[in-house]
Amino acid sequence: MSESVYALLLKQIGNEFGSQNLYLTCASIFRQHGLYNLAAFLIKRSEEERKHAMKVFEHLKEANYYIPIDSVPTFVTAGMDKSRLLDIARTVFEHEHDVSQRWLDIELASREEPYTNMFAQDFVDEQVEEEEWAYQLYRRIELAVDGPSLLTVDGQYKE
Ligand SMILES: [Fe+2]
Ligand SMILES: [Fe+2]
Repeated sequence: MSESVYALLLKQIGNEFGSQNLYLTCASIFRQHGLYNLAAFLIKRSEEERKHAMKVFEHLKEANYYIPIDSVPTFVTAGMDKSRLLDIARTVFEHEHDVSQRWLDIELASREEPYTNMFAQDFVDEQVEEEEWAYQLYRRIELAVDGPSLLTVDGQYKE
């Protein structure tokens, strides 16, 4: 594996754990607003992010790489007004969009390395769904802020 691809994958482990932490943080905020289904939905998404991080970890582990994991960024602060929820949903969507870009970068950087390139391609494909749920969440909350109630949106996430 080239040095640059190794560095990008290493950074991506931190990013995926960053997603995990972002969604857990957002779940706690939704709970504070009584939006329990949305909170549960985001906790599930956070579990998926941990799986993503571990997949990348395993990919490097198999090749016996040293894997120091970056500290993860923090994204959101607490706030109790309704409009903050829209900011949070937008942050989630923008974050997924950014993650897609990072996987595209990894895919591009690994073109000469078929095994890692296939690995990156799977993530690029998966990001289509990731961006979709994040966009839907954002749009639903946007509509709810001045339309129907947020509890209606919460009901849409009931399992
Ligand atoms: Fe992810
Ligand atoms: Fe994601």
